[in-house]
Formats: sequence, C-alpha cells, structure tokens
Amino acid sequence: HKKVSKICCIGAGYVGGPTCAVIAYKCPDVVVTIVDLNQARIDAWNSDNLPIYEPGLDEVVKAVRGKNLFFSTDVDTAIKEADLIFVSVNTPTKKSGVGKGFAADLGYVESATRHIAKVAESDKIVVEKSTVPCRTAQSMRKILESNGKPGARFDILSNPEFLAEGTAIRDLFAPDRVLIGSLDTVYGRAAAASLADVYANWVPRKQVITMNLWSSELSKLAANALLAQRISSINALSAICEATGADIDEVSYAVGLDSRIGPKFLKASVGFGGSCFQKDILNLVYLSESLHLPDVAEYWRQVVEMNESQKRRFTQHIISSLFNTLTGKRLAVLGFAFKKDTGDTRESAAITLIKYFRQEQAKIAIYDPKVEESQIWYDLAEPGVVDDLTALKKQVTITSSAYEAAQGADAIVICTEWDEFRDTKLDYEKLYATMNKPAFIFDGRLILNQKKLEKIGFKVECIGRSRLEESFE
Ligand code: NAD
Ligand code: UDX
Repeated sequence: HKKVSKICCIGAGYVGGPTCAVIAYKCPDVVVTIVDLNQARIDAWNSDNLPIYEPGLDEVVKAVRGKNLFFSTDVDTAIKEADLIFVSVNTPTKKSGVGKGFAADLGYVESATRHIAKVAESDKIVVEKSTVPCRTAQSMRKILESNGKPGARFDILSNPEFLAEGTAIRDLFAPDRVLIGSLDTVYGRAAAASLADVYANWVPRKQVITMNLWSSELSKLAANALLAQRISSINALSAICEATGADIDEVSYAVGLDSRIGPKFLKASVGFGGSCFQKDILNLVYLSESLHLPDVAEYWRQVVEMNESQKRRFTQHIISSLFNTLTGKRLAVLGFAFKKDTGDTRESAAITLIKYFRQEQAKIAIYDPKVEESQIWYDLAEPGVVDDLTALKKQVTITSSAYEAAQGADAIVICTEWDEFRDTKLDYEKLYATMNKPAFIFDGRLILNQKKLEKIGFKVECIGRSRLEESFE
C-alpha cells in the first residue's frame, strides 16, 4: 500500500482543525493542509486568536503551523496535491424538505465530494470524517466515479471522529480507538492500511481497528446514541430522586461501581447539549424510519424527548421554588456553553432555559467565561423576528463576572459546570451579600457543596436531590 505524504482536510471546524493539527504534530514527515471556504475562519486559524477554544490546541498549532501544517482557502491546490483527503464538513439537521428536523443535511458533504471529483488529477484516498448516515460512502463513490477525470481512482474510507469538545487534544493524543472502515477489496484494504500507518505514528496498532464501511459509519451514530441515552437515563432517574429523597449522585456512584455499567457519563444535568448528540440521534431516528423500523425510531426518539423534558422540569422547579412567579425577578445564569472548557454553544441547555425564563418575564443576567457576547445575542434572538433583539436587550444583560451577574439577583442558576463556579473558587459569601433574599441557587450541574452554601444562608436546589428530610414520616 501507498505511503501518505500529503493530506488535505476539507473543513476547518471543530473537528477538521484539531484533528489535522494533531496529525501534523505527530507526523512531521506528512504535510497537512486544512482548507475551508470561509475566509474569516482560515484567517483566524492563521492568527494568534484561533477560531475555537480548546485546551492545548494553541500549543499544537503554534508548534507546527508554517512547518508542515497550513491553513488555506485554496481548496483546488490542496486537493490536487494530496494523496489523502479528509472530508470534515458540517452535516447539520435538515431545516426544510423531506426529513426536516431529523435527517442530516448532506449538501456540504456532496459539494465537497463534487469539488474533489472536479479538480483531482491523480488517485486519492477520500476519507469521511464527518458524521454521516449509514451508506453515505456509497453516494460519495457514485459522485466521484461519475465525475472524476479518467485515470484518477478514488478509494473511500470511513474514519469517524470520537473527540469530545473541551478535551479534544487529550482525546486525539490518546484515543480509545481509531476506526477505519473500507470496502473489503484489495484497493479498499490497501487504502485502509495507508491511513492506519498515519495513525500508527502515535496510536498503538491494536487500537487502530479496521472493519467494513457500513459498520464504521453506523458505529459513530451508535456511540453517540448510547452515550446520550446514558445521560437521559440518569436524568430520568434524577426526577425520581427529587420526588423520593434519593440522591442522584449517590445512585450514580452505586450503579457505576458495577463494572458492567461503569462510572463515566452518569452525571445528571440540565440536559445534554452540543452539536452532536441530538443531531446524531435524530439522524438515527430518520434512518430507522426510512428502513421501516418505527419501533426502533420511537425508542431512540425518547432519548431526545427525555432531554427536553429535563429542561422543562428544571424550569418548573425554579418557578415553584420562587413562589410561583419569575415576573420581574433577576436570575443570574452562570454558564452559557454546552459544557465546560469550550466556547461552543450549539444546542446548549442554557439557550432553552433562558427562552423559558423570558416567557416567564424574568430579567436574566448571563455570565460565561469563554462564550463571546455576540454569540450569546445570536443564540437568543429569534431568527427573522423584527425587533426581537431590542426586546431581548430589555430582558437580558451579559455581564463580565459572576459577581456582576448576581448583583441584585433573586437566584443563581448554574447551567455549565465551569470550574470557576465551584464553591472553592467563587466567593459565595460575596455573592450572597449582594443578592435579594431569600437568595436561591439552582445547581443544574451538581458542582456545589449544598451544606456549605446553606450555612451562608442560600436556599440550594439541586438536580436529582430533594429537600425532603431523611425521616420516615
Ligand atoms: P463546523 O461547522 O465547525 O466545521 C465545518 C466547516 O466546513 C465549516 O468551517 C465550513 O465552512 C466548512 N465547509 C463546508 N462545506 C465546505 C466545502 N464544500 N469546502 C470547504 N469547506 C467547507 O463542524 P464540526 O463541528 O467541525 O463538524 C464537522 C463534522 O464532524 C460533522 O459531521 C460533525 O457531526 C462531526 N463531528 C463533530 C464533533 C464535534 O465535537 N464538533 C465530533 C465528532 C464528529
Ligand atoms: C460528544 C461525544 O462524547 C464525542 O465522542 C463525539 O465525538 C461528539 O459528541 P461533545 O458533545 O463534545 O462530545 O461532549 P460530551 O462530553 O459528550 O458532552 C455532551 C453533553 O452531555 C454536554 O452538554 C455535557 O454537559 C452533557 N453530559 C455529559 C451530561 O450531562 N452528563 C454526563 O455525564 C456527560
């Protein structure tokens, strides 16, 4: 099989950027060019202010940029020169047409594929890095084969990405496994071996798994569906805890000690967010429906439904605790990102919660250590509604510290588990002093020491924990 010496990555986003920066870092003899149509994004990758925040990313990029890592908008040249091309473009949920609200929009994958077919003059290994429905590789192959130049061969691989945001660099340096799916043909296996050699520069061989294309594609959707299902399961149990006096952290700990269940991904929360879980489950729901498997579709749909229900339930709990009205009250929302250590807000639970708080006529003060102010306005404004931003700004303020957000507030609502919100980091006595009384805290992430804060005077309400006394009454 062929040795890969030049790689092109189409799509300089949350996946393409970090993934291919790490390949360049770990493979000094491979030249990696990451391309995108978005000039502003490429400019940012070439600047001191990278377009995404990810711990450790700056160091990796700075070590190799200009040496064997390049960012460019010259897609044609990068395609022409590469032996291997990653397609790492976005695959959002369709907003209209057939499958609206469920199916993945494969328009970007198709246009990147057509671009490859149009300009490639020699053999290419084309790798699906984007998360796609099962059998997308087949469509890509048809497009490449019917539009490619004579003499140029295309071998398609599936190589899904399992990194999580906030820990992308750590996950890429030491992945649990690397999946490579190929056709079971001489050419397919050779292409898979070429890509496996790239990863072998730093990933132990036994963790680089090769398998059939469709298994690889489906494994990605399956992994995300199972992870999200764990969170919805624990969140469903958190509702039972609140009603009974059981404590969800204790239940998670107890069940997680069973080695068949395991301790990870059992943290109850305000609901999962992020660009992947919901999108990929809905994608699986749509796939199941198209395969005439309505029961299967319904089963996975419930995972998303439970997530929505968790956000509604949390809001309802806040309303009833605050004497059944939020009108005119100030809520300090701490955290807007969908999880800590990222500036990403896609599908963040905070967005939905703030929408509900607004419907209740609350005043909302938001603080997040990493999310840009413009992003928050963008996420909260209803698209297409004239004057919504003006109305929004009457109800919502964005502050530059937790202290400023809590000033005059009736309640603090923890939406993201940023370390700086912990009671070992933030001065809760200082926050308490400036708040309206009774001062409430709603811990949607279970990061606070309830007893310690109650001693200060706070009324503390946590997901999955009731205020019932431990008695037999
Ligand atoms: P993103 O939106 O951050 O980046 C995609 C980039 O592709 C954009 O910058 C866009 O301008 C560019 N692009 C689109 N069409 C193009 C074209 N024809 N030519 C050149 N550039 C083009 O998306 P992302 O978060 O990086 O996700 C990419 C894929 O990876 C998705 O399929 C996603 O499901 C999957 N994925 C994401 C994560 C994650 O944590 N974000 C993790 C695993 C897998
Ligand atoms: C996820 C997958 O983990 C990753 O493998 C895949 O490649 C992309 O999708 P990501 O969305 O970046 O990664 O973050 P993840 O850590 O999975 O968290 C997703 C959401 O679930 C966050 O909102 C997080 O706060 C929430 N979560 C996670 C919980 O509520 N409880 C948990 O126990 C774990």
